Amino acid sequence: SLYRIAVLVGSLRRDSFNRKLASAVALLAPPEFTFQQLALDDLPLYNQDDDGNQAASVKRLKDDIKSASALLFVTPEYNRSIPGVLKNAIDHASRPYGHSAWEGKPAGILGVSVGAIGTALAQQHLRNILAYLDVPTMGQPEAFLHAKDDFFDADGKIGHTSLEFMQDWMDRYVAWVKKQAGDQAANA
Ligand code: FNR
Repeated sequence: SLYRIAVLVGSLRRDSFNRKLASAVALLAPPEFTFQQLALDDLPLYNQDDDGNQAASVKRLKDDIKSASALLFVTPEYNRSIPGVLKNAIDHASRPYGHSAWEGKPAGILGVSVGAIGTALAQQHLRNILAYLDVPTMGQPEAFLHAKDDFFDADGKIGHTSLEFMQDWMDRYVAWVKKQAGDQAANA
């Protein structure tokens, strides 16, 4: 079967390392996996007054999440947490109460940083949020990535020093998503 992965990138920066990572890592997946980076830059700021009348961009976000087999979060760390852009998107798709798009969608988490801890604290915050939203997250392998000069090659692909690690991460993610999908079918 085919697996549609909805990718949420936590940076709007034009030359974002995390967006580059999201694109590069998708190339390491088998052909039955397709990856779609969801637009987060046209979402309004979340306002609970609008819960009964969600913007078209919010409805689109929720539809893309609901129709996905699984999720992939690729996010920078901002001030030791996730960026507001990503939290805003998460809040939007969790509402109105009882109509969250997130429930039961399996998720992998990646992040790359210029800082030494490689988004570890942002990822831990994100896991906490996703646990509340009933999104199961792959626990291992963790990927706390450091944007060194050789992380990407000249074509924007994963460079050779990190390729084995990232290929292993993707292989494990693919196996985990398939297992989650099987479990969901078994429980349906
Ligand atoms: C950062 N950065 C950062 N890095 C980190 O490792 N831990 C942190 O807490 C922060 N905090 C932070 C706050 C804000 C507002 C900015 C703009 C940046 C640096 C960050 O890792 C760096 O800018 C990355 O390049 C951001 O990811 P993208 O945009 O390249 O994907």
